[in-house]
Formats: sequence, structure tokens, C-alpha cells
Amino acid sequence: MPASWAEIFPHLMRAKLIATRGVKDKLVTMEDPFSIIRDFESKGIMGPITLDMLPTKSIGRTVAPIAESEPENIEFRNNLPDWRKEDFPMEALDVSVDLSIHYDITGNSTTEGKMVDINAAFTNRLERLRKLIIKNSNLPRRPMEIARLQAERGRFQARESIAVAIGLVNDPRHTKNGHLMFGLEDSTGEMNCLLMNRTGDDRIIEHSNVIESGLMPDDVVGVSGSFSANGDLFYIDDLHFPMEDRHEKSYSDTGVSVAFLSDIHVGSKTFLEAQWMKMAKWFNTDPLARTIKYLVLSGDCVDGVGIYPGQDKELAIKDLYGQYSRFAELLELLPEWVECIMLPGNHDAVRPAEPQPTLEPDIQQDFNATTFVGNPCDFSLHGVRLLSYHGKSIDDFVAGLRTVTYSDPVEAMRQMLRRRHLAPQWGGKTPLSPEPEDGLVIREVPDIFVTGHVHGHECVDFRGTTLICSSTWQDQTSYQRMLGFQPKPCMLTVVNLGTHKTTAIPFA
Ligand SMILES: [Fe+2]
Ligand SMILES: [Fe+2]
Repeated sequence: MPASWAEIFPHLMRAKLIATRGVKDKLVTMEDPFSIIRDFESKGIMGPITLDMLPTKSIGRTVAPIAESEPENIEFRNNLPDWRKEDFPMEALDVSVDLSIHYDITGNSTTEGKMVDINAAFTNRLERLRKLIIKNSNLPRRPMEIARLQAERGRFQARESIAVAIGLVNDPRHTKNGHLMFGLEDSTGEMNCLLMNRTGDDRIIEHSNVIESGLMPDDVVGVSGSFSANGDLFYIDDLHFPMEDRHEKSYSDTGVSVAFLSDIHVGSKTFLEAQWMKMAKWFNTDPLARTIKYLVLSGDCVDGVGIYPGQDKELAIKDLYGQYSRFAELLELLPEWVECIMLPGNHDAVRPAEPQPTLEPDIQQDFNATTFVGNPCDFSLHGVRLLSYHGKSIDDFVAGLRTVTYSDPVEAMRQMLRRRHLAPQWGGKTPLSPEPEDGLVIREVPDIFVTGHVHGHECVDFRGTTLICSSTWQDQTSYQRMLGFQPKPCMLTVVNLGTHKTTAIPFA
């Protein structure tokens, strides 16, 4: 009798064999697949096996077997009844890929990195975010150019005659009294702004929140208020951000699911291979996995080479191409119905300046069933809008805003959405490429917004958008240990496109 894939797969894992495309279908038709696996073991063969390595004789079962219903293995669900069939309603096996890309820098980068390009990028950012602030924020009157406001400041020195301006934030800082000061700049001029830290009945909760967190350099905000008596200072009555209050999600008629991972770091000694094998088994046996049509991989899929000093000592695979080949093999373990969408991160073999284009064709050729995109990528799956960004700028948000920490990285994502910008700060930890159209502006509010990079894991709703900080497949590194940082590895986040219900499967 032929064996089922669920029976064969653990034997392959134990023998450290990887079934490449087509091999699975062949093995399930073979009289005694286990003897073939034993044969490979006795010959010391490990790694990927291809169709031509298998004996040609089979029992002739060429018609696809009727799918046996696999018993649900709740051992892999932490013994939790953590998902319901009606929340994840559709099997992905016969569903075709429906992916449309709205923004990807790949092939569209035109900057030469000159001063004129930097100016053009900031002008574009200011223009686009100004339009969003006017559209989404309740401005008390039309904004004016800063030079004109200053020339006419005598008109705007009383509380009842409010002035409005929109500009880029310069040098945000807290005064010793706890007020927030910053310069606000547009193409005509700059003015000093002060947001007072009021207490008691005067306290405005939104202002307190901004004062508590601070602002990022190069943020685009609107201010309404009035000038001081000598005209040197602009007192802010209200601050205006480009985000609308609430986003209405799109629900797809195709109720398949999307899974999210990032930061696999294949090639590192701390890559968690055994847990990957456990997930591969789950993918091939669990009923929830049968609903997963897409796997979004949000960067740092390999550890890379020469990314930080002394990295060589932490690498199990020292060759960059070898790391990508190994990752391609690991993805081959997933069922054939799963389509991967892969973007680069700061460990990948592309330029570090964001937006980053996708991986080179000579790397892509190792992979099957994978769509390669740039970082960030704004795309739709079956009509549901996703924004995937690796998340390098979270380092800047942690450094710049007092409310963002590595233990709560989704707070950085909330701040990005509030600003409608993924990486505002020029000259911080995130290298930026000054494109004539600022590719890091969040053009449409996504239904699902995903980042990685910080090796945490969270999945929460924020004003109608599902925020996912996707989990890593790398154990704590020596650098993280030194910093006392504990990653949250091996969590597969799953979101259904028809219901927007979410769950997370632990494999650690
Ligand atoms: Fe990473
Ligand atoms: Fe990263």
C-alpha cells in the first residue's frame, strides 16, 4: 500500500532530505517510499532530492488521490481552540493567484543622489502629505505659506484669529518645562513653534500624547495657532496629522488566508532549522494550512554577508548565494498551493537605501512559486490592500519617539500610519534614497500593514487596519543577548482575506 504524505514527511525530515517540486507527488505513488528514504540515508545523501533521483517504478497510481481528511493535530496549536472554520472558510488548493502591485521601486529608481534630488524628494513629500492633511484633518482655515504668515503676523496675534501652516519638522526637542519646541519649514521659510504642556483642566489629551512621544525630524505636520507678541514664536493651539480617524476595510469574496513571516536569517548559526521543519510538517498536514494561499516574507530572509563587524563568526553558511539557495530549499518544503511574496530587508543583497528594489534575477532563479518585490511594497491580494515594509526605520522611531520601544514595535507602526510615512527621518539610522516621488509616503491606508526587522511578534487592530509585526526564525543572537533583548521567534501569523480574522501558530 502506498503511504500518505503525512506518513512519509517525518521520515524525510529525520533523514534531512528535502523533497523538491514533483517529488512529493511521486513518493505518494510509490510502493515503498520508506525503503527509498533508507536507501538515500545509507548512501549518505542529504538535502534536496529531485525527481531524477527516484527510481522510475511506481504502482501506477497516476490519478490524483482523493484527499483524505487529515485528523486535526492540535498539538501544533498549543492545545488551544484558536481558530474556527467559519473564520478561515476557504481552501487554497485550487485558488489562482490574484496579486496586483500598486507601488514597488524595482526598475523605477531614477535618483542620482544629488542635492537637487534630495530637495525634490522633500518637496514631493511635503506636497503629498499637505494634501492628506487638508483632506483628513479638520483645519480651522486654509493653510498659508510660512513666509506670508510671518509677513502678516500682526494679524495672527490673538486667540480668535487663527493661522494655519503645514511644513516639515526641524530639530524637535523638549524644553526643561516639558513643552515641545520645533521649527516648521516649507519652501518659503521657517518658524519656531511651541506646543505647551498644559495640565489640569487645560490639558488636551491629543496634545499630551504628542508631547509625551515627541516628533520625528522631517515629519510633516499642520499647526494652527497664533504668534507671540514679538512674533518670534508660534503658539500651537492644535496639531494636524495626515491620517483619517478610521479606515473601512475591504473584505474579499475569496476567503483564503495569508501567512506572515520575516527575518528568517538563513545562513546564521542561530537560524532555527528544527522549528522550520516542524512548521513545514504543519503546513503539509494541518487543516488551517490548507486555507493559506500566500506567505508574505517581509525581508531579512537570509543573514547576508558583511552586514556587521564580526558577522563571519556567526555564519553557518558563509556564501551569500548559498544562503539564498538554502532558503529556496526550505521553501520547497511548503505545499505547492502556497505562493510566496518576498521582499528584501537590511540583511539582503540589494542596496540598503530605501525604497529598496527587489533581489537580482540570479538569486531569484533558485526559487519556485515566489513573487519578488521591493521594500516597501503596496499591493492587493484578492482586493484586500496590504502594505509590507521590512521596518528598518523602527530603529529611528525608537530613538526619536519616547513612546516607542523594541518591546512594543507596533507603536512605531501606529506612528507611521498617523504620519502616513514609513521613514520620515533623513540622516538617521535608515538610509533613504531621494526619489523624485517619495516612495515611503503611505499613499493609501492599507487593510493589513506588516513589518518585521525587530524580531518581535504582535498582531493588533489600529483604527481599522490590522497591524502585524511578523515573527522571526532566528534565535537570540549574541548581540541581542548583550542588549538584553528577547526575540519572539517561530510564530506564524495567519490572516483571512474574507473575514480578516487572525491567529498565530507557535512553532518554538
Ligand atoms: Fe532581521
Ligand atoms: Fe532587519
